[in-house]
Amino acid sequence: MDHSQFIGRQTIRLRVNGQEVEREVEVRKLLADFLREDLGLTATHLGCEHGVCGACTVVLNGDSVRSCLLFAVQADGGDLLSVEGLARDGQMHPLQQAFWDHHALQCGFCTSGFLMSAYDLLQKNPHPSEEEIRHGLSGNLCRCTGYANIVKAVMAVAGKNTEETKRESKT
Ligand code: FES
Ligand code: FES
Repeated sequence: MDHSQFIGRQTIRLRVNGQEVEREVEVRKLLADFLREDLGLTATHLGCEHGVCGACTVVLNGDSVRSCLLFAVQADGGDLLSVEGLARDGQMHPLQQAFWDHHALQCGFCTSGFLMSAYDLLQKNPHPSEEEIRHGLSGNLCRCTGYANIVKAVMAVAGKNTEETKRESKT
């Protein structure tokens, strides 16, 4: 088997938080490492690095994904939203504001992953029930176990969800 394709470098182009990005990367580089090391977007966190904790969640082409389970080259040509893309013009996204208002973070390590999963959930289901929110966030682990306030924060946004919660990365 020819393994040369797995040890090379490749130029990738994608949109990240509304900005066109072009970089040459090792083909085996993880998307999470690409965001953190190549683009300096360190708010995407790495916990387990094997798809369990959800800390590395970003939205790629409209779906939440674990950036520790993808290679950067798999995002080539894509449209990616990381937690850094949620705030606009110095204003927190309504989800970020709700996390603030409802004390939905403790150590904060898991927060960016929760925000991105909640963002994805609300794009697909703007008014989820508490059960749907709990299900939507079930792939994210908070080691501080502070789930009650996280759910409360997402419920608050779901109750007053408007178009303003939509942050297309291309706008
Ligand atoms: S670091 Fe990706 S799921 Fe835990
Ligand atoms: S706030 Fe600490 S891990 Fe979630």
